[in-house]
Amino acid sequence: MSKEINILYVVAEAVPFAKTGGLADVAGALPQTVKELGHEIRIMMPKYSTFSERKYKVHDVIRLKDIMIPLGDTCISTSVKSAFITSSKVKVQVYFLANDKLYSRDGLYVNPHTKKDYADNDERFIFLCKGTLETLKKLGWKPDIIHCNDWQTGLIPAYLKTVYRDDPFFKKTKTIYTIHNLAYQGIFPKESFNKTGLPKEIFTPEGVEFYGKFNFMKAGIVYADIVNTVSEKYAQEIRTKEEFGCGLEKLLEKRKKDLYGIVNGVDYSVWNPAADNLIPEKYSITNFSKKAENKKALLQKFGMKYDENIPVIGIISRLADQKGFDLIGDIIADLMKLDLQMVVLGTGEKKYHELFQKIHNKYPDKFGVQLGFNEALAHLIEAGSDMFLMPSKYEPCGLNQIYSLKYGTVPIVRATGGLEDTIENIKPETGSGTGFKFTKYDDAELLKTIKKAIKLYQNKKIWVKIMKNGMAKDFSWETSAKKYLALYKKLLKDKD
Ligand code: ADP
Ligand code: GLC
Repeated sequence: MSKEINILYVVAEAVPFAKTGGLADVAGALPQTVKELGHEIRIMMPKYSTFSERKYKVHDVIRLKDIMIPLGDTCISTSVKSAFITSSKVKVQVYFLANDKLYSRDGLYVNPHTKKDYADNDERFIFLCKGTLETLKKLGWKPDIIHCNDWQTGLIPAYLKTVYRDDPFFKKTKTIYTIHNLAYQGIFPKESFNKTGLPKEIFTPEGVEFYGKFNFMKAGIVYADIVNTVSEKYAQEIRTKEEFGCGLEKLLEKRKKDLYGIVNGVDYSVWNPAADNLIPEKYSITNFSKKAENKKALLQKFGMKYDENIPVIGIISRLADQKGFDLIGDIIADLMKLDLQMVVLGTGEKKYHELFQKIHNKYPDKFGVQLGFNEALAHLIEAGSDMFLMPSKYEPCGLNQIYSLKYGTVPIVRATGGLEDTIENIKPETGSGTGFKFTKYDDAELLKTIKKAIKLYQNKKIWVKIMKNGMAKDFSWETSAKKYLALYKKLLKDKD
């Protein structure tokens, strides 16, 4: 048996404690699978006020004032709390860095009332990075690998390669940095850099400077031992074009040798119509007649009429430019002439709230809208819709299209990033494939693809075949977790 690896997984959100998007799903599931594969992995995240401490039996492991974190000219104390993520097979320990002033808020990164980023996000995540390293020292737990995720954790590799370089505690610690979304880089004014305690020699274009500003994600990419992202296609895309690389494409090209793509998996204990307690009627590939009951319940929830011959297209999404909804705005009049119904669940940018609300007001019988975050409704939309729409401009991985496959809800996607990697284009003549794909980011292309889908929906025999193709797919985490393990092992071997 190979040696057990100790890993600390650092992340800004994880199910079931805090979630704004797919990152939380990944962080709540991948560590469990790594643990099931026989390795010790623990999670570190901020202690928000988004969940009940009582429900998850949160307890103190380090008392307040036992750790002092320098932040600019001051020193801030933190306590560390802990709880477990439990599955039927394993328990994963989660450490929470707790500082009420920094983290006890209604939102994670954005004030939900003003819709603006919190003004002190720099301090909140400098604190997470520095606090993580100080906590490990205090706990005396030496992970072989620190697995960092997205911009909020990008300074950890930079600290390890500079401030902690000669610290015997971290002598053998390696880092892997996972990019879940390159468009969110954590860019702050130069003054923010001065609060980090990082040596000023690294505030250069080769280091953490980005056109005169301070870039957290760039720090992660420059200083981590290995970098990866969440699909193979996106790993290629971000090295090539500015629209994907967001100004970091040259750096990523430079790190090509250490840049990998590993597609996300699905936690089928959460996203599986055969075991889903959040939907009215369970169903599976061998018996999916009950899917219709979910469709009825879904339409009722949106105050719309049920007709088995009219397909329902679902959307569940952060409402951000990334997701491609401007394309819908452009074709809505044509779309609403078709024999279809649409239901949208989302929250995010104001312009999309306004757009969807306006469409709903004009077409209340055909276009249902819920603006907000609602876990239970997300499950109902997966179960009750016939098709699922993701016309993304770019998509690092995307999870909803993979969930949709298991729910027999046929995805309509733009062929980019993880959408390209996880969905096989349908051939209407034979009924092969799992979803409808279009390539060009163009409203006419989208309309054409939706028309193709609703036409094929009327051919019940082929449609059932396509549903089954998707439901039979297996994207469970084990395959991807094994790839992460291979990377962890490579890291410990090559980068010694
Ligand atoms: P991203 O991480 O870019 O938002 P993903 O497809 O990877 O996109 O993951 C989105 C996750 O967030 C899914 O679990 C999806 O169901 C969930 N989600 C997004 N918006 C909402 C919402 N308004 N209410 C409930 N769940 C949502
Ligand atoms: C990001 C991406 C999404 C991906 C998720 C989890 O939020 O936008 O495509 O699935 O992270 O990796």
